[in-house]
Amino acid sequence: MNVKQLLTATLLSVALASGAHAQQCEDTALFAEMETMADTMQGLARAIRGNDLDSAREALPTLQQAARNAHQETPFSLRNGGADQDIANFRAAIDELNEMIDELDLALANDNQADAAQALRAIGDARRNGHRQFKDRSCG
Ligand code: HEM
Repeated sequence: MNVKQLLTATLLSVALASGAHAQQCEDTALFAEMETMADTMQGLARAIRGNDLDSAREALPTLQQAARNAHQETPFSLRNGGADQDIANFRAAIDELNEMIDELDLALANDNQADAAQALRAIGDARRNGHRQFKDRSCG
């Protein structure tokens, strides 16, 4: 490959890589997972409040899957790569969320409405903290 070809190839790969970056927050894969999580949380909260734990058990895997998927995604606020530490902090926060969802799973498996409500509140707190730390101002 001569120098000109190398330059062209380099520019092309930079263009392709930057094309992978979302232009706005709503375009990220993470945003889509979050919307799924929010929809599922609404149904879960209603079901747990109404002590309809069968419905809650049915809805839970959707939340679980979306929260697991979120682990390999990158927030819009870190779209330019961020520092390794920022990405690690984001993943740790998502891991914590997943642990709380596992607590909810356990409470539902034990038919324990009070513990399920408690786990739901912890998930709500994780959401607030996660958004304060990682959600871009331009977002939703
Ligand atoms: C079950 C818990 C959660 C729910 C239901 C939820 C829901 C949402 C929703 C609906 C959005 C879209 C924007 C908006 O309407 O606010 C959003 C965006 C976002 N959420 Fe969450 N969220 C949760 C937990 C978390 C956690 C724990 C983190 C961080 C560790 C997080 C990080 C973000 C980020 C960074 C965005 C912006 C999208 C992006 O930057 O790509 N969320 N979330």
